[in-house]
Amino acid sequence: MTDLPEWSLPLCGCLLTTMDFDTESIEYAKQFPVEDTDVFVATFPKSGTTWMQHILSLVLNGGDLTPINTIPNWDRVPWMGSKRLAEIADQLKSPRALATHLLFAKMPPSFHTSKAKVIYVMRNPKDVLVSSYYFHQMACFLDNPRTFDEFFDNFLEGKVLYGKWTDHVKSWRRAGLEDRIMYITYEEMAQDLPASIRRVSDFLCCNLSEEVIQKIANSSSFKSMKANPMSNFSTVPKGHMDMDKSAFLRKGTPGDWKNHFSSEQLVRFTSVIHKELEGEDFSLPWSL
Ligand code: A3P
Repeated sequence: MTDLPEWSLPLCGCLLTTMDFDTESIEYAKQFPVEDTDVFVATFPKSGTTWMQHILSLVLNGGDLTPINTIPNWDRVPWMGSKRLAEIADQLKSPRALATHLLFAKMPPSFHTSKAKVIYVMRNPKDVLVSSYYFHQMACFLDNPRTFDEFFDNFLEGKVLYGKWTDHVKSWRRAGLEDRIMYITYEEMAQDLPASIRRVSDFLCCNLSEEVIQKIANSSSFKSMKANPMSNFSTVPKGHMDMDKSAFLRKGTPGDWKNHFSSEQLVRFTSVIHKELEGEDFSLPWSL
C-alpha cells in the first residue's frame, strides 16, 4: 500500500478514479453528518461488502430492482470518506445506506452520537486473505502482492489494507452498539441467502414478504451479481481494476483457502489468530 492518509483508505474498496481523495474530502468525512436513519455496512475488506451493499439496496427499496440495475454500487451505497460521497450526499434518499471499512473508533463523531444502524459482515479470515491476494493483483492502485507466501506474511503482520483483521473484528465486536448492530457472516449468507436477507429485513424493520425475500435472493446470487454491470465493477477502467488479472467477483464461495494454504501456513495462521483473539468474549463461527 502506498502512503495514503488513513481517511483515504475507504476509497480503496470502491471505485477509485485513481486518487479520489484530497484534504477537503477527508475533512468532509470527519464532519459528515450521520443521520439516525442511516444504515452502514461495515467490513474488513474482502469480507462480502459488495454483496451486502447489493442486498441492502434491495431490502431498503422493498425489493425494487431499479436501483441495482441503474445505479453503480458506489453511488447506491457510497463510501464514508470518499470524495464521491461529498458529491452525491444531497441526492441520497432516507434511509441512506453507506459503506465503511473504518474501525469503530475511527467513525465520525456524528456516528457515535446518532442512532444509525450497522450491519457488520465478517468472513473466515483465511478466505479474506485469499480474496485480498487476488484483489491486490487486479487493483492497480494497490501494491503488487508478489508471491502468495509473501502476501500471507504481510496479512498476518497487518501490512495490508486496514491492518490486522483481528483488530478490525475486535473493534466492531466490542463496539457495544447493542440493538444498533447486527453481526452476520459471509458463510451464513452463502449457506442460506433467503434467511440472511430475512435477518437484514427484520433488523431494519422492513417487514418484507417471503415473495420479496426470494426475489432479492435471486438477484443477489453470485451469478446474478456477476452479470450485473452495476455490481460487478466492469465499468471501472482497466487502468484501475484489471479484470484480466482477476475478476472482482472472483470465486464467490467459502473455503478457497484450502487451495492456497500449506499445512505449515494453516498451523501458523491458526496460532496467530487464536493468540490475538485470546480473552475476547465472542467466539468465531468457524474452526480456524
Ligand atoms: P472472492 O474473491 O473469494 O470471490 P468485498 O466486496 O468485501 O470486496 O468482497 C469481495 C468478495 O465477496 C469476493 O470474494 C467476491 O467474489 C465475493 N462476493 C461478492 N458478491 C458475492 C455473491 N453474491 N455471492 C458470493 N460471494 C460474493
